[in-house]
Amino acid sequence: MIGGPRCLAGLDVGSTSTTAVLVETGPGWDTPAEQVRVLGVGVAHTEGVRNRNVTHIEAATESVREALRDAEDMAGIEAGIVYAGIAGEHIDVGSSSGVVAVSGEEIDQRDLDRVHEVARAIVIPPDRELLHAIPQDYAVDGQSGIQDPRGMAATRLESEVCVVTASSPACQNLRKAIDRAGYRIEELVFSPLATSLAVLSDEERQAGVVLLEIGGAATELTVYRDGRLYLVATLPWGGVTVTNDIVKGLGIPLADAEDLKRNRGSASTGAVGEDEKLEIVGPTPGRTREVSRELLAHIIEQRLDEMFGLVYEALEEKELLGALPGGVVLTGGGASLEGIVDLAQTVFNMPVALGQPGAGLGGVVEATRDPRLSTATGLAVYGQMRARETGGGMALRTFSRLTDWLRDFF
Ligand SMILES: Nc1ncnc2c1ncn2[C@@H]1O[C@H](COP(=O)(O)OP(=O)(O)OP(=O)(O)O)[C@@H](O)[C@H]1O
Ligand SMILES: [Mg+2]
Repeated sequence: MIGGPRCLAGLDVGSTSTTAVLVETGPGWDTPAEQVRVLGVGVAHTEGVRNRNVTHIEAATESVREALRDAEDMAGIEAGIVYAGIAGEHIDVGSSSGVVAVSGEEIDQRDLDRVHEVARAIVIPPDRELLHAIPQDYAVDGQSGIQDPRGMAATRLESEVCVVTASSPACQNLRKAIDRAGYRIEELVFSPLATSLAVLSDEERQAGVVLLEIGGAATELTVYRDGRLYLVATLPWGGVTVTNDIVKGLGIPLADAEDLKRNRGSASTGAVGEDEKLEIVGPTPGRTREVSRELLAHIIEQRLDEMFGLVYEALEEKELLGALPGGVVLTGGGASLEGIVDLAQTVFNMPVALGQPGAGLGGVVEATRDPRLSTATGLAVYGQMRARETGGGMALRTFSRLTDWLRDFF
């Protein structure tokens, strides 16, 4: 055990919902299954965010306050510090490399630290911020493909680092919204990385896996291979796209379409009974009419089929289709639709699973078991790793394999 308990929150300001997961870390750290104890969860409707950028500080501040207060009320304790997610088209993922001469007989941690330092020493334009520098691959005396070069005899060490940068104004506006809500931001974290901490296992990342987080305005596509981040892309469609199709297809208001999708929607026409009926408003005000549930399912299925088809083509183009035994993991609020796993399985012809956060966590885990809480939960897990790193002197390697994967994130 190191230090006392510490509270922190993962906060995800999404385009439709703002979610917070409050966790306690501290006593019990030696028990891997209880590394993170969930104390509270909060969800608020997001205002003041467009295209994943804060466009109205006051409104976004209110959403942040509401989500965190909800989580604090449930936990009966204050959040302390906040790890917030950031995503959007302004994020840039690139790579950089560094070379150093090995100082002793064999490569040690200091050599790794030095080579990372060199690789991450890139010129960042004044309007961008460096979020992460993640070592991807090492080469030892010209031999590449080395995952952990420590202990190897060599004279020259090279490292390839994945560099994630974000637009400074986007970061600043998000920070302002959180700051004005009265919380201390410890770090901004690229959301898909946090999400993967909540819903992917180390084995899946090692085998090769696709993570598809279907949000409101966007979908994040992340591919891992050999334990490394391989591909990141933001696709400009999400749950809102599906809802808009229902608005057009059935001629009903947005709020009704959203309700209908959540409560009666299905992504699989075949799974819906032919005689199932729905009552919807219109066509004239004050009147209602009956439509078949199959029609609603058909609208949803068509759009998702098209969306998944685009992802399939992207994977095919990168020759990844046969290279991902971990299959596809669907998460994000948009993945809550009934029948979505079956539909994805048909399109991808790969194993598909629903990514529910909560595995390996302690406390009120049940409260986190909702795909729209994946990012906030992952952010809390990330925060716990960081708290550990700064809170005690134990070697990172002894913590967990997850931590191992992340050891040089920072
Ligand atoms: N039970 C449900 N069934 C179907 N769809 C749902 C359900 N719950 C939420 N959604 C959909 O999930 C979407 C929001 O997901 P999520 O909260 O993950 O997005 P976000 O983080 O706010 O947005 P983004 O990631 O794009 O910024 C909405 O479009 C909503 O309709
Ligand atoms: Mg989201």
